[in-house]
Amino acid sequence: MSDKTYPPSADFAAKAHVDAAGYAEMYKTSIDNPEAFWAEHGKRIDWIKPFSKVKDVNFNFGEVSIKWFEDGTLNVAANCIDRHLETRADQTAIIWEPDDPNDDALHITYRELHEQVGRMANVLKSLGVGKGDRVVIYLPMIPEAAYAMLACARIGAIHSIVFAGFSPDALGARVNGCDAKLVITADTAPRGGRQTKLKDNVNQALLHDTTDVKCLVVRRTGDQIAWRRDLDFWWHEEAEKVSADCPPEEMGAEDPLFILYTSGSTGQPKGVVHTSGGYLVYAAMTHQYTFDYHDGDIFWCTADVGWVTGHSYIIYGPLANGATTLMFEGVPTYPDAGRFWAVCEKHKVNQFYTAPTAIRALMGQGNDFVTRYDLSDLKVLGTVGEPINPEAWNWYNEVVGKGNCPIVDTWWQTETGGHLITPLPGATATKPGSATLPFFGVQPVVLEPESGKEITETVAEGVLALKDSWPGQMRTVWGDHDRFQSTYFQQYKGYYFSGDGCRRDADGYYWITGRVDDVINVSGHRMGTAEVESALVAHAKVAEAAVVGYPHDIKGQGIYAYVTLMTGEEPTDALRKELSEWVRHEIGPIAKPDLIQWAPGLPKTRSGKIMRRILRKIAENDYGSLGDTSTLADPSVVDELIENRMNRG
Ligand code: WTA
Repeated sequence: MSDKTYPPSADFAAKAHVDAAGYAEMYKTSIDNPEAFWAEHGKRIDWIKPFSKVKDVNFNFGEVSIKWFEDGTLNVAANCIDRHLETRADQTAIIWEPDDPNDDALHITYRELHEQVGRMANVLKSLGVGKGDRVVIYLPMIPEAAYAMLACARIGAIHSIVFAGFSPDALGARVNGCDAKLVITADTAPRGGRQTKLKDNVNQALLHDTTDVKCLVVRRTGDQIAWRRDLDFWWHEEAEKVSADCPPEEMGAEDPLFILYTSGSTGQPKGVVHTSGGYLVYAAMTHQYTFDYHDGDIFWCTADVGWVTGHSYIIYGPLANGATTLMFEGVPTYPDAGRFWAVCEKHKVNQFYTAPTAIRALMGQGNDFVTRYDLSDLKVLGTVGEPINPEAWNWYNEVVGKGNCPIVDTWWQTETGGHLITPLPGATATKPGSATLPFFGVQPVVLEPESGKEITETVAEGVLALKDSWPGQMRTVWGDHDRFQSTYFQQYKGYYFSGDGCRRDADGYYWITGRVDDVINVSGHRMGTAEVESALVAHAKVAEAAVVGYPHDIKGQGIYAYVTLMTGEEPTDALRKELSEWVRHEIGPIAKPDLIQWAPGLPKTRSGKIMRRILRKIAENDYGSLGDTSTLADPSVVDELIENRMNRG
């Protein structure tokens, strides 16, 4: 924690959309009179039929229902493209920066975007995709990913993007989960100089019970790929057969726009459903205010479109605002640790948005990689995904921002669609490590974890929940509304429960302390411990597994697995490696355990429940304060685990 505050400069505040007084006033209106506030801000997008109802929300467990602007109709793609054509057809909509810095960048204008999306929309139709059908997108960070998302939106199909780092099994589960008609992929994805054979992964994923799923393939590298006759189609061939003119479908505000699978504390990932009207209003509005985006600015969010950050702040928010948004195919460290800053200089980036894990990794490579580039166009720096430690915050502020760029530490979730707690750069005095104050219309509360009682004193510590809805909130879990209710509305009645812990300081600032459930935040990506455990126990030599997080210098949290082997199996280093690779293969590289400890026994209560609290402490190398272990069936397993712990850092 750091008590130093960094107020926006008078100069910045004067030019900003919102200054401190403006924030206070707008926030008050948004809470005192949400109907009027959102009726006004709902107009920032174009409606085919204007809404007359603003909000219809019920947070009561058993009756949860969330609707915004429900009788309005619109088309999201028309809002992101068509409505800009009159004034900015020749403005760049998307700057694409390829993985290899020696390849040419692309500048795609709004006119070109309109054409490409129209074509892809007509190709989707020709492949039998219609309104309400699901399309899985499994693409690298290439312009076609944007075309695919917007083409779905244009015809009213629901996209579900699967991050290209996920394994065939994870992909297959998601294709099945939403019963997709089509998968859009590429032959191969170059990333950081390495190649991932995406189409091969799709072939494997579709081997099981999804053999009639069609596949549209973008040619990225020209690699040889295995082709499924009658089911696979080249994008560049199909595009030639159709017109570029595809009238946008009229959609209801509450029609789903996309499904995005995310990890929870139990079971398999759930399909978070976002709808059209409220989501777009919220993504666009937060993009404008949080980054203080002005017409003509170049905006760069380094996320992948496979995560919610890419949905809201590479595609939907910026394009709804008529922005120029940068899409980067590569990684921060290729060809060297200066790549981010080289790209900022090259494309004169004004707002830059990344994750603390990237900042920490680059910080360790020395300042030369930053200072050799001209970063004078930068105005605002953002972070997202996990708490940022003050050292990384200070480095970002001083070395990257030269002390001139407000830092916006944005707290939000896949479920929230857009920022909920964040500074506004012209309004909020920041404190390193704090996400600061709520966005307009957002009412955070701190609850006592056990009783669920709302702590009304300003200074508070507990779990973070939200008292009322905002337009970008998820509406349901795909195909499982009960799971939606039980995950977010059951434990603390009447609130949306975030799963995060937090502190509120004397200034009313929020400090997110991390997940309080069995979700690990690895490099800003969510991973459910249950998912990793089920991958481990699927291995023939594993009898039992328990997975917890532990502090990791770069990733924020690392994955620590306790594994009990089948009787007779040898606990060797080779087997450790094999299990790591196995998890990588089952889920993807982000799920790979960092440390595996052989556990002849796991600490269990007499009723057989694994005591994760103890496992977490040992993984954190904090075994001196294990607390009460007397309820364990066999307390001696704990000494054994401590003695052979893997993290002695
Ligand atoms: C964490 C990413 C601290 C948090 C947009 C949340 C953060 C989870 C921050 C959601 C932040 C995100 N400070 N923690 N600024 N932003 N988190 O769904 O634990 O991938 O619940 O959404 O990331 O991760 P998700």
